[in-house]
Amino acid sequence: MVISNSPLVSPDKYMGVNPRLKIETFQEKCPVAAGEDVIKGLTQTPKTLPAKYFYDDRGSLLFEKICALPEYYVTRTEAKILQDYASEIAHLTGPCEIVELGSGSSTKTRILLEAYQELDHPLHYLPIDISGGILEQSAYDLLKDYPKLNIHGIVSTYETALKNLNPSPLPARMIGFIGSTLGNLKPSECHVFFSHIVEALQQGDYFLLGVDLHKSESILVPAYDDSQGVTAEFNLNILRHLNNIFEGNFNLQQFEHWAFYNQTEHQIEMHLKSLRSQTVELKKLNLAIELATDETIHTEISRKFELEKIQEELRDLGLVSLKTWTDENQWFGLILCQLQGN
Ligand code: TRP
Repeated sequence: MVISNSPLVSPDKYMGVNPRLKIETFQEKCPVAAGEDVIKGLTQTPKTLPAKYFYDDRGSLLFEKICALPEYYVTRTEAKILQDYASEIAHLTGPCEIVELGSGSSTKTRILLEAYQELDHPLHYLPIDISGGILEQSAYDLLKDYPKLNIHGIVSTYETALKNLNPSPLPARMIGFIGSTLGNLKPSECHVFFSHIVEALQQGDYFLLGVDLHKSESILVPAYDDSQGVTAEFNLNILRHLNNIFEGNFNLQQFEHWAFYNQTEHQIEMHLKSLRSQTVELKKLNLAIELATDETIHTEISRKFELEKIQEELRDLGLVSLKTWTDENQWFGLILCQLQGN
């Protein structure tokens, strides 16, 4: 997919409505190019789809439902760590602009905002999300609850947003990437992603990273294949989203959610399995694909990490970890790094 270097900024419909809120949308320059990543993924063997297509407004809401599932320990565990240590984080960083990648409902971010507010630090929050609906809604909710908060939201992919950040309005910036979204990137993508983080930071700035850690398969698999079928619905929603934006005719009844733990790679893998041989068309992309019975479309990985290894990788890029925190079971890790000169 081609993403323009100088994205079009949509006319700011929020400007003037609330002086504490600004939301920008960075669009891809050439709409025809949008979907090239879908064509590439669906025409290769095995078939894949880029994970960003999970998150239309419906997908974002389904993801919120996943976060509240009894089997999905990830959100709850990370939130507990934040609750226990947000104040320590705020003390360590001092006043800073909080940038968040994949902000969604910003629920966990509230814990951080409380801590900075407690110290009477100015509150500047820059949420970045691919789904405009959820970003806008949570921005309005936050403004109501935090009277001194300023929000500058960006609706776009991480890469485009990171490349186009203005300098921080405060002496420092902290980029937050929580929820173990890092685990959804392949190792090679991870490396490129970290280099974009480094470029968006100045010396002395901070990076707060939440990572899900190695643990037993009996805990991992149900977290990605829950008994109520919400994760299945979320996975299938990617097809519905493609139908909507590219005039597709995926029949969701003809696919099944399939999640398993790959022990060697330490990753959950998510697929959609075709229940019969079928042809699917995406009119706007001029694409027709054939699927055999039981053929899968790979939609997502969720890698599980070891704290020491990830800290080492960050350190090699100048992101020196100041402190790490974990929960009582050591299921989840939170790392606060600072960009330091080589
Ligand atoms: N960042 C989340 C994770 O890896 C994303 C996620 C949770 C997810 N459940 C999912 C992605 C199901 C696809 C399908 O835990």
